[in-house]
Amino acid sequence: MSDVRQISPVAGWTGSAPPAFTPDALAASAMRIREGCFVVSDPATGALGVANGGSQVTADVPGAWPVAAVLPAMYPEWLGDRSFAEVHGTRFAYVTGAMANGIATTELVIEAARSGCLGFFGAAGLSYQQVEAAIDELVGSLGHDGAPWGCNLIHSPNEPALEEAVADLYIARGVRKVSAAAYMSLTPAIVRYAYSGLTVDAAGAVIRPNMVFAKVSRPEVASHFMNPAPMAMLNKLVVTGKLTEREAQLAATLPVAEDFTIEADSGGHTDNRPLGPLFSAIQAVRDSVMTDRGYQRPVRLGAAGGIGTPQAAASAFALGASYILTGTVNQACVESGLSVAGKEMLAAADIADVTMAPAADMFELGVELQVLKRGTMFAPRAKRLYQLYRTYDSLDSIPADVAAEVERGVLQMSLDECWLTTRAFWMDRDPQQVAQAETDPRHKMALTFRSYLGLSSRWAIEGDQNRRTDYQIWCGPAMGAFNAWTSGTFLAEPAGRTVAQVAKNLLEGAAVVTRSHQLRTYGVPMPATAFDYRPRPLG
Ligand SMILES: Cc1cc2nc3c(=O)[nH]c(=O)nc-3n(C[C@H](O)[C@H](O)[C@H](O)COP(=O)(O)O)c2cc1C
Repeated sequence: MSDVRQISPVAGWTGSAPPAFTPDALAASAMRIREGCFVVSDPATGALGVANGGSQVTADVPGAWPVAAVLPAMYPEWLGDRSFAEVHGTRFAYVTGAMANGIATTELVIEAARSGCLGFFGAAGLSYQQVEAAIDELVGSLGHDGAPWGCNLIHSPNEPALEEAVADLYIARGVRKVSAAAYMSLTPAIVRYAYSGLTVDAAGAVIRPNMVFAKVSRPEVASHFMNPAPMAMLNKLVVTGKLTEREAQLAATLPVAEDFTIEADSGGHTDNRPLGPLFSAIQAVRDSVMTDRGYQRPVRLGAAGGIGTPQAAASAFALGASYILTGTVNQACVESGLSVAGKEMLAAADIADVTMAPAADMFELGVELQVLKRGTMFAPRAKRLYQLYRTYDSLDSIPADVAAEVERGVLQMSLDECWLTTRAFWMDRDPQQVAQAETDPRHKMALTFRSYLGLSSRWAIEGDQNRRTDYQIWCGPAMGAFNAWTSGTFLAEPAGRTVAQVAKNLLEGAAVVTRSHQLRTYGVPMPATAFDYRPRPLG
């Protein structure tokens, strides 16, 4: 390493206030991101410091401080890929992720959009009619084309007809951005949405009205969405009248999605992967597909999972993320659909207060998702139900004492009663499920147990005081980190947490952390406090 005393000055600096050399002064300087700054050396000691304001002069001006580097101003708006903001009509490269059962409310999406971010409505788990009503509201408030909002399309292996119908709805109603979640491979529904309406402009460039954000946590799944959909699938969509021949022709030259949210350890469905290795692995797939296919348009990679502090946001951008996406922390905000009681529980969470528990939508497959552990017994109770499902062939074969324990300790009703209410629910939503359950006792057991998993989310959303210990609240480790960061500030109390202030503070803080890191890499001895941006109300 070369000696910092031997810098060759690129310029000189003069100013009325002396440069910052002490830890406190350096930390204060790092906050001034919107100003350019100078890395200067003290001719007497060789120490490196930072000067703000003042004037740049030539190095030989008597009394001028020798300048080792000049840093321009930086802005939260500049974090991430500029093409993201241009294509999606945002001020910031910041997305609020979809949260099922309408927890990402229309209000949350509208607030995110109005504060310069992109928001996805939490359509998963809602009925067709509820999604339709949400679209009406979003179109009414934000408009269609170019507006920074979208909806979730969740892969529904148990309800393919609903997935198809919701995709149709998005196409028909001009929902221009869709976050595709829980896909392991492509389905006709998402492919049709992705390629509907493709045309070519006068210059020969393909115009793509519908944009898919693929949520991925595995390289092989990313690969499906980064390549064009298989010809056989495109041909079938043409034969069934779902795509025109021209759309299919153009589709063969385009990836299914051009934005990928790489999801590390997050709230809800997650593979619990750390962001660093996962991001690099999926970037390698992206780079190889880009080379093979020779795409003319960029394929952007965003980062999600565990982003609840400025440091986490800054590190995601430093990995090369084109945008960042948050989930858990928005659930704790006033605009989210979670009950006040649920938000209070989130506000008390520490980083380790999360655990994995069976997922209602993929219960039979043994899929788990990440939930809040502190203050609720949901996880052990749901695990108990899954264990029974694995052990027994039917509700009737569960020994009486075990059944009694579950009836009393989990369901708070008899298994028979539970099946009857479950049956009534499915008769309304999908009678096919009831028909199957009546000939397949194992399916009947799965539906009965799944009803507890489904209701436990509802109780948390509605704030049912009688079922507080059954609340199922999806939550990742970002929550504990966020609580620690905001402790003692205006963002500590649930009533003070708004999606806009959370986003702006995360981004402002990420810019400060980035500036501090830059200065450190130029040899300035930045103190730990320079990496500790505290929340404050931002305009
Ligand atoms: C309550 C909750 C519900 C979620 N529901 C969905 C969903 O329906 N679809 C989806 O793609 N992601 C869903 N997610 C994931 C988020 O959109 C986001 O990707 C994730 O929360 C980011 O990680 P983080 O929780 O660490 O911020 C959900 C997350 C939470 C916390």
